[in-house]
Amino acid sequence: MHISQRSRPGNWYHFAVASGRQRGRFITFEGLDGCGKSTHLEKLKAVLRDEGIETVTTREPGGTEVGEKVRAVLLNSRTRGLAPLAELALMFASRAQQIAEVIEPALQAGKWVLCDRFTDSSEAYQGGGRQLGSEAVLTMHRVLCGQTQPDLTILMDTDVAASVARARRRNKVATDNDEADENRFEQENREFFTRVHEAYVAIARREPQRVYVVDARRAIDVVHADIVKEVRRKLLK
Ligand code: TYD
Repeated sequence: MHISQRSRPGNWYHFAVASGRQRGRFITFEGLDGCGKSTHLEKLKAVLRDEGIETVTTREPGGTEVGEKVRAVLLNSRTRGLAPLAELALMFASRAQQIAEVIEPALQAGKWVLCDRFTDSSEAYQGGGRQLGSEAVLTMHRVLCGQTQPDLTILMDTDVAASVARARRRNKVATDNDEADENRFEQENREFFTRVHEAYVAIARREPQRVYVVDARRAIDVVHADIVKEVRRKLLK
């Protein structure tokens, strides 16, 4: 095998399959800021643990030492004048590092990876919100993420106004408590988040096999039950 081929994530996958080892499953959580992704990710993790499945949970941007530095640049509200394409490139820089360092090694070892956001976020926020379009994002995904595709994406559907208000409140409390300032996206206006929402809806329509849309405006336990049902139906047969 040529050396440059060997270093591509796609070939890890083929190696895992060829060597007969059962590859883990890759589940991503998506949705607007403040939609409750992290809560549901943790609740699903607990269910999988009870099933005896080893999981790795992570988030984007971030999840690695390098990625967390990139996250600070991307989310800090003091970062000014970041060009939309530079923003997109940084999102993918964090992702490429995370695939190499965390996601592929875990999947190869048979662990399940639960990731808070992945490429759909770039398509929704940079493609839709920043109006860069889907093609640029999908091209970068092909080059930088290779075969690393989610087996299942949980898209948490919420009201634009309600989820943005919730994220703003949460981040204000964090900044008041001297935690990391991660407010840069929350400062965007309603039109921006409406475009993000529309882009998510378009992704779900395009890939209904992969993307499970859950109405996240309902009580946490009801939403959780729906998510678990879908994970069992699709991945725990
Ligand atoms: P996150 O920490 O998940 O925020 P929240 O908990 O509020 O949902 O994500 C950080 C922000 O980064 C969020 O506003 C969405 C944005 N983002 C993008 O714009 N593009 C991307 O590719 C990713 C992964 C995140």
